[in-house]
Amino acid sequence: MRSASDPLSPPTAANTSVTQIIDGKAIAATIRLEVADHVREHVAAGRRAPSLKVVLLGEDPASASYVRGKNRACAETGIDSETLTYGADLSEADLLQIIRSLNEDASVDGILVQLPLPDHIDEQKVLRAVSPAKDVDCFHPENVGRLVIGEPGFRPATPAGIMELLKRSGVETRGRSAVVIGRSNIVGKPMANLLVQKGIDATVTVCHSRTVDLPAVARSADILIAAIGRAEFVTAEMVKPGAAVIDVGMNRVGDPSRDRGYRLCGDVDFEGVAPIAGWITPVPGGVGPMTIAMLLKNTLFAATGLF
Ligand code: GUN
Repeated sequence: MRSASDPLSPPTAANTSVTQIIDGKAIAATIRLEVADHVREHVAAGRRAPSLKVVLLGEDPASASYVRGKNRACAETGIDSETLTYGADLSEADLLQIIRSLNEDASVDGILVQLPLPDHIDEQKVLRAVSPAKDVDCFHPENVGRLVIGEPGFRPATPAGIMELLKRSGVETRGRSAVVIGRSNIVGKPMANLLVQKGIDATVTVCHSRTVDLPAVARSADILIAAIGRAEFVTAEMVKPGAAVIDVGMNRVGDPSRDRGYRLCGDVDFEGVAPIAGWITPVPGGVGPMTIAMLLKNTLFAATGLF
């Protein structure tokens, strides 16, 4: 369990004693069971199973591995999923045509175009081509707008997964200071928007490469979200004792002692930060499994209107 202290209280020995390691793998497994229950009910009511189409271009091993994970999780929860794989040389026009036909196909509930796309394709043009009603990534500007104004609808998987981790781990957000390091469209910006919504009520700061004295800003956070893509960037000096530290990073660092030649590490120096944090997510096994779990929730929403 977490420290008995309040993250808003000044750093003292008393609030550095116990750290809760947030088990994203276990929380994601619970969410998959919840989704599977809803899918079962939906099918028992005589409807077809929710259906997701994933569009993958090229053979990037990381993308292929993410997509396999998505398909596995869909199968486990009763969602029909299929990956449509094309060469990295597919033209933008052909990709847009494929998306248009998926938009028009009433047997398809959710469409996900795996990123990154090859350089010759305009990513924004492709993301805008996906019907907002089938946009399980929540990357279409219409859905991003709904998120910003707090309307119900799709939520981007990684930030939504982080909100679930905070909620299910008992991290108080109301009135707390949240600092997001990173301003990407996929994580940083939507994360900040979710944290500031009514009912969540955090006071939010977004840091980036031009932020002056980033370590001091980070140290002011009760909730610190690291999403910069730099291995072990967040060190103990940047963390307020008792803070909730969420690590979105998944970096490959060369390690000749391993068979595969690298090790995976997050954006947080886990060994240094864990002893002073109130809560911390590990890498792997923290945010990563939540991203797929929330994609399943979005696919369920696309098919049923339920969350
Ligand atoms: N590539 C890395 N993360 C994501 C994601 O959340 N969605 C898609 N479509 N591609 C990604």
